[in-house]
Amino acid sequence: MRPRYLTTVSNPKRCLVSPVLARADVTAAVFRLEFEWPGPAPGAGQFFMLKVQRGGTFLPRPISVYRWDAPSRRLSFLILKKGRGTVELGQLRAGEEVTLTGPLGNRWGPFFSPAFSAAGGAAGGAPGRAVALVGGGIGIAPLSAFGDELGGGFDVYAGFRSGSFGLESLSKKADTLVIASEDGSEGRKGRIPDFVEYRDRPCVFACGPLPMLRAVADRCGAVGVPCYISMETTMACGVGACLGCTVTTAGGNRRCCADGPIFPAEEIFPARPSASDGPIFPAEDIFPARGMI
Ligand SMILES: Cc1cc2nc3c(=O)[nH]c(=O)nc-3n(C[C@H](O)[C@H](O)[C@H](O)COP(=O)(O)OP(=O)(O)OC[C@H]3O[C@@H](n4cnc5c(N)ncnc54)[C@H](O)[C@@H]3O)c2cc1C
Ligand code: FES
Repeated sequence: MRPRYLTTVSNPKRCLVSPVLARADVTAAVFRLEFEWPGPAPGAGQFFMLKVQRGGTFLPRPISVYRWDAPSRRLSFLILKKGRGTVELGQLRAGEEVTLTGPLGNRWGPFFSPAFSAAGGAAGGAPGRAVALVGGGIGIAPLSAFGDELGGGFDVYAGFRSGSFGLESLSKKADTLVIASEDGSEGRKGRIPDFVEYRDRPCVFACGPLPMLRAVADRCGAVGVPCYISMETTMACGVGACLGCTVTTAGGNRRCCADGPIFPAEEIFPARPSASDGPIFPAEDIFPARGMI
């Protein structure tokens, strides 16, 4: 059975029905799905909307590109079973059909310039330190795709609640791989933002739970290192039409699916006034308007 086109959403996005080529359990809660994708090549950081053809969920679910093998046109996703939609995806067997819409959103690549790195990094930082990829839990998936695109010359910091997963490719390509787990079952015990060396990096790319992203963004901000984060929101259309994925940024409301999912960290977490600035502030400085969504 071959993939079949449903429609062109808008160039270069495609919507097609593709049978599962392979499915594998990675841990009890994480699995991998593989498809043939004859559509436009996806970039690292981009995502697809996945919907089981004969499934019970109405809305598709956004899932990042985990691996893209251009010669074979094989597209893989690494998925954590969270609720009904992802559990349904996890029950698929080879040959069962899924509607794939993508590639959607922006990519990590354009935020990274090797020339910038060679010139000494951000804010006058000393040359030498590699770019850092910081992943928390399933947030490691889009960073693995970015590691494949970079091919080398980067450090990886990966944090998990327990154990680890999704590091097969990154562990081969990273200059340094630091793993942390909250229960100490793998790597260092604790939370990954505490183990990252932030200084003198050309930039840091992060994907994971919001508190982790905030911690990474704050520490990058403190040492003047640019930080780019991939945001996770619930999505309905995935193509910028429904506004269901709106995120509040320093520059106003943005659609996570069409304007992101990758944003400069300072747009999502604008610098907060410090205690030394005084205890009394205009309320709108502390709680920026959320606007109409
Ligand atoms: C850009 C992006 C990339 C992602 N990449 C990955 C990845 O690579 N791997 C991975 O495992 N996860 C990834 N996620 C997270 C993944 O999309 C969610 O875990 C998944 O959508 C949860 O769906 P669920 O049905 O399993 O969970 P639930 O928590 O059950 O679903 C969410 C709940 O909210 C409801 N809901 C869902 N969407 C909407 C909506 N739009 N409006 C209103 N209610 C809604 C559902 O009905 C359900 O009740 C990504 C998310 C984003 C935004
Ligand atoms: S999910 Fe519809 S606009 Fe983003």
